[in-house]
Amino acid sequence: MKLRRAPLEDWMRDFYFDTSIDLGSSGVQCWTLAELRGLLDISHEDLDAIAFDDSPSYGGPGLRTALADRFGDGDPDRVMSTHGSTEGIFLVMNALLGPGDEIVVIDPGYHSLWSVAESIGCSIKRWRLRPEDGFTPDLDALRPLITPRTRMVVVNLPNNPTGATLRPEQFDEFLDIVTASGAYLVWDGAFTELTHGTPQLPEPALRYERCLSLGTMSKAYGLPGTRVGWCLGAPDLLARLLPLRDVLTICLSPFTEYIAERAVTHADRLLSIRGAQTARNLRRLTDWADDHADLVSWTPPGGGCTAFPTFHGISDTEQLCRDLGRDYDVLLVPGSGFGHPDRVRLGFGGVEAEFTEGLDRLRRALETRTAPARRTGTRPIEGALAR
Ligand SMILES: Cc1ncc(COP(=O)(O)O)c(C=O)c1O
Repeated sequence: MKLRRAPLEDWMRDFYFDTSIDLGSSGVQCWTLAELRGLLDISHEDLDAIAFDDSPSYGGPGLRTALADRFGDGDPDRVMSTHGSTEGIFLVMNALLGPGDEIVVIDPGYHSLWSVAESIGCSIKRWRLRPEDGFTPDLDALRPLITPRTRMVVVNLPNNPTGATLRPEQFDEFLDIVTASGAYLVWDGAFTELTHGTPQLPEPALRYERCLSLGTMSKAYGLPGTRVGWCLGAPDLLARLLPLRDVLTICLSPFTEYIAERAVTHADRLLSIRGAQTARNLRRLTDWADDHADLVSWTPPGGGCTAFPTFHGISDTEQLCRDLGRDYDVLLVPGSGFGHPDRVRLGFGGVEAEFTEGLDRLRRALETRTAPARRTGTRPIEGALAR
């Protein structure tokens, strides 16, 4: 298998850990264990009782039940926990696809949603969200892409990086199109619970037997360091993921599965705090974009915590993002990794004071692009963000 390099991950390796202001990540501000213990009623005794044993192949029963209750139909047999949704994507594609299979994938999108299929030897058809439509998904553009040869449809909505999503009636139509084709549906719902004035989309795995639906602790939950994700689907499909799991990760850690179980059980306690924070940052971003309409164009996102703006007069944002990382201590991700070099992925899930300061530094970098950039003073880091 030949995997392409992922420019997004290369960028994160270079700048994520070496900048103190994060305008680039796609998740909300992370929680500390102390905060989680308070919010999720986890006692020292609870933690002390955890044995660092193996966990069952499909995941610990407590976590599977919590996930089935929140996202599924209550049946834990239709849930498998995964090592981040990254493992879910890898398992599902390698279990269900072979060389020459045709897949339809949303574009722009998270790199592994197409690169894993490409490494297997699949032919990739892209369902392109067009900038001129504000990246609104166009079902009329999807329809002709799906043919009797389509083996799998791969979608992430709300979408990283654009923040685009579907209206509920479009979701129904989307599902009708895929269901009628009989193709597998891989639904990456990383941002399902993070919406901005748009209704939360229903769970497609409850309505289509050939759907495998992926979720993660990394985005709305602010817990990427647990490396816990999940896959919802029919038990016979989940069983097909096991042989690969047995050689790849065997199982997850009972410690992080326990934290994830508590987080899912009391999800609303975490989501309400970080959801409100993200909404306030989105208002800041909206005001900033209004105030600097001479510099920036964007479409406000319907979900997730990333936007995908352009800056006037900049056809390739990579140097700007490099300058921001090096001279302004700010992480911003160039759109080249998503096939749109004239854009940036701008994450707004972070620490609020930091976000405001980051936008100000971005303005200065944009205004002084042609002048030598000055290094700005740094402030203490109040929190870390998800990738
Ligand atoms: C849409 C999407 N899917 C999957 C992932 C993988 O995340 P994780 O493995 O942390 O769950 C990411 C990470 O950025 C993502 O944005």
